[in-house]
Amino acid sequence: MRKHLCFLPLVGLLLSACGTTGGPSTAHLPETTSEAAVAYAARCGSCHAIPHPKRHTYDVWLRMMPLMEKHIADRNMGTMSIEEQTLILAYLKQHGR
Ligand code: HEC
Repeated sequence: MRKHLCFLPLVGLLLSACGTTGGPSTAHLPETTSEAAVAYAARCGSCHAIPHPKRHTYDVWLRMMPLMEKHIADRNMGTMSIEEQTLILAYLKQHGR
């Protein structure tokens, strides 16, 4: 886990170098083009590489959301609406470990 994390910035760099849209690449995500995957990538790929949903179980994702929300609030990056959170959590529930 620790070793894997070290590669995250590198992966992010590679992904952004390959992306054509300028946004975070969703190529490695399940149902790449769905509304949920796009929302997930936009929200969860702006500070670090987009974590693969299989990285955690839904229970862990549930606990992680408020932590990430705090990071988002701390950096004045807006708040996630209930709809957005629901969409992202449903996606993580379906595709999580
Ligand atoms: C405002 C910046 C920011 C955004 C946006 C953000 N994160 Fe994070 N994330 C962090 C920081 C900072 C860390 C380092 C660990 C910590 O201090 O919580 C982190 C760490 C992580 C980790 C690594 C910990 C682990 O278990 O491997 C995961 C996974 C993660 N974030 C998931 C998400 C998800 C899911 C979202 C979208 C809901 C998200 N992040 C959005 C800032 C952010």
